[in-house]
Amino acid sequence: MSKKRLWITRRLSDATLERALRDYDAVINYDDAPGTAEQIIAASAEFDAIIPCHSEHFTAEVVAQFSDRLKIVANHSVGVDHCNLPALKARGIAVTNTPDVLSDATAELAMLLMLGAARHAVAGDRIVRTGAWDSWSPAFMVGKQVTGARLGIIGMGRVGRAFATKARGFDMEIHYFNRSELPADQAKGAIYHDNVESLLAVADFLSLHCPATPETTGLMNESRFALLPEGAVVVNSARGALVDEAALLRALESGRISAAGLDCFQVEPGGNPAFAAHDNIFMLPHIGSATRKTRDAMGFRALDNLDAFFAGQTPGDLL
Ligand code: DGY
Repeated sequence: MSKKRLWITRRLSDATLERALRDYDAVINYDDAPGTAEQIIAASAEFDAIIPCHSEHFTAEVVAQFSDRLKIVANHSVGVDHCNLPALKARGIAVTNTPDVLSDATAELAMLLMLGAARHAVAGDRIVRTGAWDSWSPAFMVGKQVTGARLGIIGMGRVGRAFATKARGFDMEIHYFNRSELPADQAKGAIYHDNVESLLAVADFLSLHCPATPETTGLMNESRFALLPEGAVVVNSARGALVDEAALLRALESGRISAAGLDCFQVEPGGNPAFAAHDNIFMLPHIGSATRKTRDAMGFRALDNLDAFFAGQTPGDLL
């Protein structure tokens, strides 16, 4: 049987590409530039399958111009806000993602963001690096202690729960808002809030772990920032769309929140230039899942989904 034609839109891990080339008639974008709408539309006529990343946008407009060959979009991401799922499903195209395998890496990065934001990592690093560190005093760079503090998690899915596990190592008191309350064996003592507002009132540290959907876009807006305890720290390793960035800046400037740790921005790549002047924003360029181990696992998970699909089975991560 001839191999299925597969387009891999970005430079995935070597182990992933090796396996893809062994099992598929795979075309790999070694240039690693994000796939354009024109390329995606053209690929729908030339390939049976695509493995894209969150950098390729399968909008309704793009999908409407598809040819009939494409059968599956096996995302190399857990988030699928770059895909118009109803439009793809209406075309009979299967869509999968890569849950589980990136939860620990993303939770690790959220922990880094929380600690870095709370303890002045940006200013501290710069002062040492530039030779501007010329004094020390007990009042110097005093930050906010994580250990024992109250942590609010919005979205207690796989990544939210992995973050809670790591936060327990810091003896944090964990509160969460989720669409539904978790069973006790998953909540592990975390306190459920059935509305975002009551969670915010106790969140000395707030970490976002929900997907970007029309319902969660702009979730953290002016009025919600105002509900946080004075001096709270806000962490976003999920999606930029969850945060009204202008409102975040105002909350930082007013002191309502003391610091933010951000791996995701409304505009990516690039981020928000208005954040650059603020030392109390610790920023990273959307690298939550970027560890070697996790990149291999994500690639393999996407290929597992393809293998199942072309074997006539239901892929494990079919959406
Ligand atoms: C994800 O998997 O959704 C990460 O944000 C990387 O794309």
